[in-house]
Amino acid sequence: MSSRMKNCIVRFYHLLLFVVLSPREGNDPEDYSRLTYRKLLEETCRFANVLKSKGVSNGDKVVIYMPMILELPIAMLACTRIGAVHSVVFAGYSSDSLADRVLDSKAKVLITADGVWRGEKLLLLKNICDEAADKVTKHGHRLESCIVVAHLRRLNNPQGKTKGVNGTSNGTAMEMANVSWDDDRDVWWHDEMEDAEASCYPVWMAAEDPLFILYTSGSTGKPKGVLHTTAGYLIYAATTFKYVFDYHPGDIYWCTADCGWITGHTYVVYGPLANGATSVIFEGTPFYPENDRYWSIIDKYKVTQFYTAPTAIRSLMKFGDHLVKKHNLSTLKVLGSVGEPINTEAWLWFYNLVGHGKCSIADTFWQTETGGHVITPLPGATPMKPGSAKMYYPNSELAREAHCGSMEQYKRMHESSIKDPTQFWGEIAKQFYWETPAIEDKFFSYNFDLSKGDIFIRWMEGASTNISFNLLDKNTFPFFGVLPELLDEDGRVIEGEGEGYLVFRRPWPGMMRTLYGNHQRFQNTYFDRFNGFYCTGDGARRDADGYLWVTGRIDDMLNVSGHLMSTAEVESVLAEHSSVAEAAVVSKSHPVKGQCLYCFITPTAGTTFDEKLQGELKRKVRERIGPFAQPDAIQHAPALPKTRSGKIMRRMLRKIAAGDRNIGDTSTLADETVIQLLFELRPCV
Ligand code: PRX
Repeated sequence: MSSRMKNCIVRFYHLLLFVVLSPREGNDPEDYSRLTYRKLLEETCRFANVLKSKGVSNGDKVVIYMPMILELPIAMLACTRIGAVHSVVFAGYSSDSLADRVLDSKAKVLITADGVWRGEKLLLLKNICDEAADKVTKHGHRLESCIVVAHLRRLNNPQGKTKGVNGTSNGTAMEMANVSWDDDRDVWWHDEMEDAEASCYPVWMAAEDPLFILYTSGSTGKPKGVLHTTAGYLIYAATTFKYVFDYHPGDIYWCTADCGWITGHTYVVYGPLANGATSVIFEGTPFYPENDRYWSIIDKYKVTQFYTAPTAIRSLMKFGDHLVKKHNLSTLKVLGSVGEPINTEAWLWFYNLVGHGKCSIADTFWQTETGGHVITPLPGATPMKPGSAKMYYPNSELAREAHCGSMEQYKRMHESSIKDPTQFWGEIAKQFYWETPAIEDKFFSYNFDLSKGDIFIRWMEGASTNISFNLLDKNTFPFFGVLPELLDEDGRVIEGEGEGYLVFRRPWPGMMRTLYGNHQRFQNTYFDRFNGFYCTGDGARRDADGYLWVTGRIDDMLNVSGHLMSTAEVESVLAEHSSVAEAAVVSKSHPVKGQCLYCFITPTAGTTFDEKLQGELKRKVRERIGPFAQPDAIQHAPALPKTRSGKIMRRMLRKIAAGDRNIGDTSTLADETVIQLLFELRPCV
């Protein structure tokens, strides 16, 4: 292990010593606490020692299936500390989805909690883990340890009777938290922590060693294990956090994302911690105990940066402005949006009401694969347009005044990066990763051609991937070093105004390195469609001012409330039902969720398509994938529109789902009468 790499990691962990109090807010408003960086380091070390005692070492995979409690980031950091690779699975996924992910990563250790309250719903996570463990055993894999946080027990049932989740409805949380136990496998977190040492020397990792795996939906149905590495991801998380949220010491930052998604990884855990930030971590939902929970938390902790999703904004808008106005939100400076395109109405509501007409809105476009923001405005520097992943100021003078500090900062930064392209990433890397100037030259090697603005950076010793940027690119909208292009069907670059496939020309530090266990799929999915470009799978439009508007997925993926999933994975679950001969799933726009699932079902001969079947199919998708994937509509389709070669015409199904009779050319269909029939059978949704 080289001394500079050691320094880099020590630097990261030194940050954990800062005496900064980060608040944690439970599902119940009375349940809150604060954590210092010193305490976080101590707990991280303790848990790292627990992991070691379970036989976890450098390179091992650990699956984490937990609610948004402090033990979740502690578990992630503990893995990192000993070089283990965490794979966090969102605790809203079903036991099947969890089992798939455990099997794919071949993890031997699973970390979970007895259960969690989400609003008034109780989720019994340990039971879901038990089901998943049985499933993986059937596939010949054994989970050796399951470490369980006694979260419900700790809460001592403050909420009384459950309202019923997963079909269970009676009994108190305590009774229900009497989880089944396998003495050979299961241990309580608190028992293990009691005897664990509070210090743990970190295991030194090379720049390109894996940091974590995070599964995201793939268009063929099987989830993809996106793999991020140590140095590039961390530097990118740290840098984008600092500049995109314009974070300064004293600010109180809050990102509402769950750590089960990439936003939670980069902008709840790694980005804020690497900056020594104070941030709020929230376990509950925006609707409990009342529909003003978000606004009351902003008020309670005097939040300055608030980062959330359009679906949350849309669902809160409908409760009326008075719930927002009830609270003092004047501390807010920067608002962030992520996960899906934000519609103008939601943007304006966010800007005018939540941001009291003075905050910058950072509409950040990025993906699990990109590790951090790739197309984003910088607060106070990029004029905002509602709904573009950019900003403009509806009231420019006022807003510019409010942000002149960051505007100056941005201008300086941008000018300096243009004058000396080595400076930007070099300085940034220094700032975050090491303190001793003597080692800096060995840390990176630079190679640049000022006339072209190319910068070529070799990462830390041992790095297998070198990274180059062009910092002179005229487009100021992408984050530094990111070069987006729009391509047409044939891969030709679209200059100026137009619409096409959103791709990136060059890599950046935080970019994924592979799909775990399947490098070929990595190549096929992201690089084969357009040779020489990273293909996002999204479409985008460039307007006359050069602003990019991400229009959404152009592959068979859909985005329900910011959760990305593939139509194929839902279709395969539906097709397993004995009464289903064929299923085709498309997306339909939804006023709150952005998009929802609309399913066409061809029943097997002799089966009646009735409400019972529809209910069973919805339940099946919930159980197999997770509650967030439940279809909104299941339509009877005695036949599907197919070409003569048997290909389902999803474009037409999307029109039928939307009730749009402007279906276009149907002459390629084997049977054109299907379209009329499907319109007639269309349910009122
Ligand atoms: O379709 C884009 C959409 O979310 C997809 C990435 O989903 P995921 O990997 O789950 O990561 C979500 C959080 C980063 C993208 O391909 N998306 C994300 N942010 C935006 C967006 N679409 C429009 N505008 C955004 N700001």
